[in-house]
Amino acid sequence: YLIGIDIGTSATKTVLFDENCQVVQSASQEYPLYQPQNGWAEQEPLDWYSAVVRTVKKVVQESGVPAEAIKGIGLSGQMHGLVMLNEANEVIRPAIIWCDQRTGKECEEITRRVGAKRLIEITANPALTGFTASKILWVRNHEAENYKACRHILLPKDYVRFRMTGDYATEVSDASGMQLLDVPNRCWSKEILEKLEIDESLLPKVYESPEVTGHVSKEFAEVTGLTTATVVVGGAGDNAAAAVGTGIVEDGRAFTTIGTSGVVFAHTSAPRIDPKGRVHTFCCAVPGCWHVMGVTQAAGLSLKWFRDNLAEKYKDEAVLKGVDSYDLINQDVAKVPIGSRRLFYLPYLMGERTPHLNPDCRGVFFGLSAIHTKADMLRSVMEGVSYSLLDCFDVLKEMQVDVNEMMACGGGGKSRIWRQMLADMYACEVKTIKAQEGPALGVAILAGVGAGIFPDVPTACRQFIEQDTWCQPEPSAHAYYEKGHQLYKKLYTQLKECYS
Ligand code: XUL
Repeated sequence: YLIGIDIGTSATKTVLFDENCQVVQSASQEYPLYQPQNGWAEQEPLDWYSAVVRTVKKVVQESGVPAEAIKGIGLSGQMHGLVMLNEANEVIRPAIIWCDQRTGKECEEITRRVGAKRLIEITANPALTGFTASKILWVRNHEAENYKACRHILLPKDYVRFRMTGDYATEVSDASGMQLLDVPNRCWSKEILEKLEIDESLLPKVYESPEVTGHVSKEFAEVTGLTTATVVVGGAGDNAAAAVGTGIVEDGRAFTTIGTSGVVFAHTSAPRIDPKGRVHTFCCAVPGCWHVMGVTQAAGLSLKWFRDNLAEKYKDEAVLKGVDSYDLINQDVAKVPIGSRRLFYLPYLMGERTPHLNPDCRGVFFGLSAIHTKADMLRSVMEGVSYSLLDCFDVLKEMQVDVNEMMACGGGGKSRIWRQMLADMYACEVKTIKAQEGPALGVAILAGVGAGIFPDVPTACRQFIEQDTWCQPEPSAHAYYEKGHQLYKKLYTQLKECYS
């Protein structure tokens, strides 16, 4: 048996799989996201850890699987978040997470210190507010005491690993998003660390994703019911993990995920870099390979924000009927015509990465009329997020990254209507896989490789990942969305100056 853990932004999900990668038991637990100021986003690392302890304990207990039969654990989770520990290994301040946008000035500082060209040559990406390096500099610039007290810097899943095994370790896919890694050479960059004056001793050891980084500690075994024989492998950032979990481990293959953020991800066997920096180039979980991905900041987050603030009736109705509120939303959205009766939504609630790289832009509804209903607005939210994903896909096409096959995953990927929207906009088939466990399955496969159960990542993916449904693009819908996309893009161009 294998365990995959995905420490997401809204919840942690833990899944126990058998050795054929079939789900035996799963559990999840939510926690809050704090936004102390407009554009800021923080979480409590202890919330992640407690969620991991509770969900691991639950899957072990409820499955009845003997603990000694659980051979390996893989960790995945939200990328880029900054966790700082002091001498006593205590968390110094709340984690500044991936969607936080406070570090515009620090990005300028990074570019000035390293040089724009050199930064892209080494880290494969321009300085971005989302990445960890700018968050480290922000703490140094604004909270000198906290920086002085810091002895260890860890990413979210790697903090959990530390509590699980006692090791300070990370792996190449997540480390790529720190902007301190030499991405083509898959190791910390001494040059970047020197130029940013960050001491390498603060950083964890870097592994490849399927490598074993340690064993479950006595303490973690006691609180969860596991044994200390279980190995913990490097794992992967949530996107690289979802790639393994959807079988995106060869050139030509891609996926779109709609989680809190939205991502269009393509596997590449060599590092491919967008000179304009609009998409990220990171190491992937297959040793010796990379990926490119475009990111839209508020994908599922847009729909959740709308539901929680403007359409709470769906939550109440869902409780009454004992169904999922998003299923009710999907039913209503299906009745609205394509184009949401000429209503447009720009999903920039948390600034935007691909293609604008602009932490200061914010969301917009355009074209509101007295005819519009909540359902029209919900559809326009889903269409706006999809246009933003299309922007990501267009950058990959412009870079001539091959995409012959597109899978969908994440919470939003479970919505048939959302998948059809993507197929219509992309003008390509959008498929799903049978086990919709994405990142958790991906890291369970990595754990299986690390524990010596599977020979390597691509072989395990070929053996266990089964495709399921697919949506075919519909030509008239595509023609409509092609025009809509032009207006969608024009809205940002026209509004850009108003954001500063
Ligand atoms: C990727 C990114 C997000 C988070 C969300 O660069 O920031 O996809 O990983 O979980």
